[in-house]
Amino acid sequence: MSTQTKKGGFSGSIGFVLAAAGSAVGLGNLWRFPTLANKYGGGLFLIVYLILVLTFGFSLLITDITIGRKTGKSSLEAFKAVHPKWGFLGKLTFLVPSIIVTYYVVIGGWILKYMVSSVTEFKATAGAGYFDSFVSDKDSPMIFWMLIYLAITAFIVYCGVEKGIEKFSKYIMPALLILIIGIAVFVLFSKNDATGKTGFEGFIGYIKPNLNDLKTDGSIDISKVMNLLLDAMSQLFFSLSVAMGIMITYGSYVKKDINLNKSVKQIEIFDTIVAFLAGMIVIPAVYTFASLGNIAKPGPGVIFDVLPKVFASMGVAGRFIGPIFFVMVAFAALTSSVSIMEAIVGACSETFKTSRKKISLIIAGIAAVAAVVVCLGYSSLSFGVTLPTGAQNQNLLDILDYVSNNLLMPIISLLTCIVIGWVVKPKWIVEEIESSGHKFKMRTFYTIMIRYVAPIMMVLLLLQSLGVFKFLSK
Ligand code: ALA
Repeated sequence: MSTQTKKGGFSGSIGFVLAAAGSAVGLGNLWRFPTLANKYGGGLFLIVYLILVLTFGFSLLITDITIGRKTGKSSLEAFKAVHPKWGFLGKLTFLVPSIIVTYYVVIGGWILKYMVSSVTEFKATAGAGYFDSFVSDKDSPMIFWMLIYLAITAFIVYCGVEKGIEKFSKYIMPALLILIIGIAVFVLFSKNDATGKTGFEGFIGYIKPNLNDLKTDGSIDISKVMNLLLDAMSQLFFSLSVAMGIMITYGSYVKKDINLNKSVKQIEIFDTIVAFLAGMIVIPAVYTFASLGNIAKPGPGVIFDVLPKVFASMGVAGRFIGPIFFVMVAFAALTSSVSIMEAIVGACSETFKTSRKKISLIIAGIAAVAAVVVCLGYSSLSFGVTLPTGAQNQNLLDILDYVSNNLLMPIISLLTCIVIGWVVKPKWIVEEIESSGHKFKMRTFYTIMIRYVAPIMMVLLLLQSLGVFKFLSK
């Protein structure tokens, strides 16, 4: 087994933490987190999510990054190096970024389109049906925007880990943090003169725990509690980029003297703060200028349908806040799509022993063809299916999202827990963490999580995704 870290990796701890935080912070933070917080009674969801981040999130993230650093390999080869019989898990893991990239760049294209349109046709973006007519347009203008977004992503990956990904993240992540804090403060002090509602009231509604959303006929509904836990858990996967091969790949670029325990905590803090701030923007803004019922469902509707209407009702201020918001979303999405593509490019250039530049171009070409098909899923190839979770009228993008997030990710995490917890044993991970000379004080906690608690949670998550718990609903 190789214990060498690859050449051409991150220059140091800050570069690594910012690039990994860049991967973590993305659409998951900006649209999924606020809507889930709204769905599950604000503060209650925040508390549950925080506990899960500190327990499951920490254990799964440090496992992925340490596997990468110890083996020095990307997902395709890393599991073979963990144990010769577990190479299949590498192939399974490699599937996740390969699926996600095909639709993440489509959504990235929508963001670019809105970034431009919120300046050139501000009022129109808030009009009824603007988003629907854009995505279902038979001429598929979204293919054009997707290709631009994909080209930017591929160019950063093409430039390499230090000169492309790290350099880009080092500028973008602090800028993103400043933008999101700025908009959050603005929303906090905003007021709707027509209704008298204020952003501050919306903020209190966001952070105050509200058990009513977990009750049916006045008593706590166990199936709702279960759904809260499982929704928070799948949010965690997506947001922290675990079980996607991404953090294994990034881990393989980390130097041996870096304190992984500390870095993982910093990545989690960054990711959670951005998610919290995103909620602090979306929930009070929608409360003050629209209706919270409009954001009942996580998904594109929140960013592309509801928020432009919110910006329009803010008056002149909205003309500035709107475009700045979309610039911020574009930054967050780009650092994530770069990491998704890097997980594919890093693995392929290792397996096929071909240069990064050549592989980046080939992967970009294949991703472009697949993403065009996803775009057409909204117009000429449109159809609607019902998923085992009960979600109706789902198109190609939704199906790909379901397969990668709801099925593959829990399966991969479960198998990773088994191979680390029971086959090579947690010591395999602990030794690598401590090889930098830093004691891993959470060793016992980590061992219990990876051997017992996390696998049970993964099985529950999988059963929920397969619709097995539907009978519990009142
Ligand atoms: N972690 C990335 C996101 O939240 C994939 O969008």
